[in-house]
Amino acid sequence: MALLPIIHVPDPLLRQVAEPVAEITPAILKQLDDMAETMYDAPGIGLAAPQIGVMNRVIVMDCAKDEDGPELWKMINPEIIQLSEDTSKLEEGCLSIPGHVGEVERPASLRARFLDVDGNLQEMEADGLLAACIQHEIDHLDGVLFIDHLSRLKKNMIWRKVLKDAKSRN
Ligand code: NI
Repeated sequence: MALLPIIHVPDPLLRQVAEPVAEITPAILKQLDDMAETMYDAPGIGLAAPQIGVMNRVIVMDCAKDEDGPELWKMINPEIIQLSEDTSKLEEGCLSIPGHVGEVERPASLRARFLDVDGNLQEMEADGLLAACIQHEIDHLDGVLFIDHLSRLKKNMIWRKVLKDAKSRN
C-alpha cells in the first residue's frame, strides 16, 4: 500500500465529473487500498478518487466511532437510490479544503447502491454521520464540494480565503 497525495482547492480536477469504473481490475483494488490508507493517515472519514487526482467513481469511508472499531467501506460506482425528505444539519469539513468547516443541511437518511471489491452489487441504508458522509463523497464524484451547500455568503467567504492562501503559496 502507499500513501497518495491529496489535492486541494482550487485544483480544477475537484470540479470535474468522474467516470464510472468499467471493470474491477487489480489496479482498482490497489487504488482502494491506497485510498483507505491515505484516508486513515490524513486522518479523515471519507475520501473520493478525484481528491487523489484520479477521475473514476471510487470512494472509501469509515465513519465509525472509536469505541465501535473500524468500519471501512469501499465503494465502486456508488449511487444514491433514495433520499429521505427529512433533513439534518451536520458540521462538515473536507481533506481537499483544509482549515474550513461548515454546517451542511442534507437528507437525513438514504439508500445507496454500489459495487463491492468482488464486483457484487450491494445495497445499504444509512443515516446520521454515515448518510452525510456518503452524500459528501458522491458529491466529489460529480465535482461538487460541501461549500456548494452553504449560503452564498459563507461560501464566498471560504472561497476568497482559499484563493488568497493559494496565491500566497505560489
Ligand atoms: Ni471532501
